[in-house]
Amino acid sequence: MSLLPIRIFPDPVLRQKAEKVIDFTPELTTLITHMVDTMYDAPGIGLAAPQIGESIRLIVVDISEEEDEQNSMVMINPEITTQEGKQVDEEGCLSVLDLTASVKRSLKVTVSYQDAEGTPQELSAEERFAIVLQHEIDHLNGILFLDHLSTLKRALYKKKIKKQQQAAAKKKLASNAKK
Ligand code: NI
Repeated sequence: MSLLPIRIFPDPVLRQKAEKVIDFTPELTTLITHMVDTMYDAPGIGLAAPQIGESIRLIVVDISEEEDEQNSMVMINPEITTQEGKQVDEEGCLSVLDLTASVKRSLKVTVSYQDAEGTPQELSAEERFAIVLQHEIDHLNGILFLDHLSTLKRALYKKKIKKQQQAAAKKKLASNAKK
């Protein structure tokens, strides 16, 4: 099993618009396997390639209904083609530490994508699965669930992260000075 380090906000790769996948190479297959392993190890129910530093349009999601089940699915170049209804639920993200918040999403989505072999597919999802798909596809466009929150909530979170970074930098400086 090969685990990939997960990029954490404010890593700039999380803000890039990811590139379309054109070539379905053996390297892509290996990357998918590593991403699935990384998702389960985290543990998470979805992972987008930019979260492991690859700015390409690839997501893996876990579509199992039961909590102790594992059933992963790969979607390449996924695109939401239709959406309807509204739902609000609590979200978190492996790349956004120490934060969960309510996010408003579409209740149902239809997604067209390519599978791991490059074959075009289409799928309809609703409720929790629809949330995961919208969250992961957002990642491919450089969007984080943070961006769906109020300006105030987002500003508070950014401030908190900045403080943490400054504290960590200070600590590093102090330990370097001792050497
Ligand atoms: Ni996420």
